[in-house]
Amino acid sequence: MAIPTISSKILLIVLSVSLFQLSSFARDYSIVGYSPQDLTSMDKLIELFESWMAKHGKIYHTIEEKLQRFDIFKDNLNHIDETNKRVTNYWLGLNHFADLTHEEFTTTYLGLKPELAGRRGSSDSREFTYGDVVDLPKSVDWRKKGAVTRVKNQGSCGSCWAFSTVAAVEGINQIVTGNLTELSEQELIDCDTTYNSGCNGGLMDYAFSFIVSNGGLRKEEDYPYIMEEGTCD
Ligand SMILES: *[C@@H]1O[C@H](CO)[C@@H](O)[C@H](O)[C@H]1NC(C)=O
Repeated sequence: MAIPTISSKILLIVLSVSLFQLSSFARDYSIVGYSPQDLTSMDKLIELFESWMAKHGKIYHTIEEKLQRFDIFKDNLNHIDETNKRVTNYWLGLNHFADLTHEEFTTTYLGLKPELAGRRGSSDSREFTYGDVVDLPKSVDWRKKGAVTRVKNQGSCGSCWAFSTVAAVEGINQIVTGNLTELSEQELIDCDTTYNSGCNGGLMDYAFSFIVSNGGLRKEEDYPYIMEEGTCD
């Protein structure tokens, strides 16, 4: 019986060596929190789900809810994996929204209200043309040029309009002054209430106008984000 044990040990060593050699390939997957092996059996899927739950502090109150979330998680994982096999210029991974359906995510987190656009009439639609289109690069990665702040989380508040606005202003401020400073979405949510509706949605155009008439925005650290509507401070 000693011989099979030794040979399985050898096999394990051989396996770990080949896994090690594969690691430069596997690393791309592990960054985003799963490996192709995770998709090969139900046990591995459950293991991945449990470790994902632990990582994001997910708690489900009934076994039914957990099973339902696991199903959605598997759907999302399949979508992620299929996309990663198909596209080469970006990667998808598991973040803390991985147990939500597309519809749940949309209704909970997206707050853009394009139907607001007509509210003030059409006087705001001004055309824009580039003056010099001769020498434009194919693409610009503004992150590499230092014009983009960290990834922020809007939470369960339909304030995407405030985040979009603030990211654009943070960027243009860096491009013009060289100073990248995080600015306050919360100030927009609490104070820009004439046309925008806080966690119930809004539109960037109105927020830009608000910033102009307000003379700017507070810094993020001075007026931090609370993931809900507050009173204008
Ligand atoms: C950038 O601008 C912010 C806001 O005005 C200011 O507090 C900060 O000191 C500036 N940073 C630098 C490096 O100039």
